[in-house]
Amino acid sequence: MPRILVLPGDGIGPEVMEQACAVLARVAPDVETEAGLIGGCAINADGVPLSDATLARAKACGLILLGAVGGPKWDQLAPDRRPEKGLLRIRKELDLFANLRPASVFSALEDASPLRREAVQGVDLIVVRELTGGLYYGEPRGRADQDGVRRALNTMVYTEPEVERIARVAFETARRRRHLVTNIHKANVLEVSAFWNEVVEATAKHYPDVTLEHQLVDSAAMVLLRDAPRFDVLLCPNLFGDIISDEAAMITGSLGMLPSASLGVEGRGLFEPVHGSAPDIAGQDAANPLAAILCVAMLLEHGLSRLDEAERVREAVQKVLDQGYRSADIARAPDIANAGTQEMGRRVMEALG
Ligand code: IPM
Ligand code: MG
Repeated sequence: MPRILVLPGDGIGPEVMEQACAVLARVAPDVETEAGLIGGCAINADGVPLSDATLARAKACGLILLGAVGGPKWDQLAPDRRPEKGLLRIRKELDLFANLRPASVFSALEDASPLRREAVQGVDLIVVRELTGGLYYGEPRGRADQDGVRRALNTMVYTEPEVERIARVAFETARRRRHLVTNIHKANVLEVSAFWNEVVEATAKHYPDVTLEHQLVDSAAMVLLRDAPRFDVLLCPNLFGDIISDEAAMITGSLGMLPSASLGVEGRGLFEPVHGSAPDIAGQDAANPLAAILCVAMLLEHGLSRLDEAERVREAVQKVLDQGYRSADIARAPDIANAGTQEMGRRVMEALG
């Protein structure tokens, strides 16, 4: 019997997770869930953003649904005690190295994009982000004053196996899509990027049916605005993927629509919306729960290999949009939103039948 650890987290996390869990219970009633704390709420309760006990439960379950972490209440804490550390720890400890962030435009929402309709029509890309290495985890790191001068550093480092395994995920993903991988790098300046590219090229030899192209990260940021529909799979190291995935998400009209999956070895996976904790609207029944609900679809597909049920959830979300229900983030103007968090969730349940 599959068990899912639900970690609602902070800000709007608990509100959107409530709707997501209702959807999960409806489409997969045999799946059991248990709840835990991560982020700021865990700091308040346990003194740390992810306790060893919660981590042990995450490892035992192997599959995790996560809301969001962080908020202004905890902004003053030292970097190693912040809510985000809980997220970084669970990713690393469960070896969730492959972060899939699909960004596609729902036809009902083409007008919600800040870009012209022509520039976004047909956007259907996926960012494959390396999630457990690079600048986020490299050593040495931290404050390191020298000769009386205040100084701090981080290290961007990748090993060959780390690059190869994420490149393989990108090529495999492209095989199920339009067979194009765009590798995002900064090899004109960074040695680590030049090395990353070498490994990606060597890995590409095993995938002759997939086209590989390379694009500098700054230029990719520009082409995303000019011609996002041309992209299929964007392969990114950790930091570039963090930035590029927010940009790609915004192009589709709303961060509030996008789910992500972080996959590891032995079928482990963590599923979380891209949008974050949005403390400014927390507790107001204003957040869009669709990203969290689409995380349930990704969990069903990638975590449980239940493709039919995943499709049912996606179709229900599509139907609710087609019916014209809009939370503030996807309404043409915030004041003409016609559904809050609970209402959007209820409509999805209705669409599921
Ligand atoms: C994300 C977030 C996280 C990251 C933060 C909250 C640590 O921005 O998942 O994109 O930088 O990876
Ligand atoms: Mg981010």
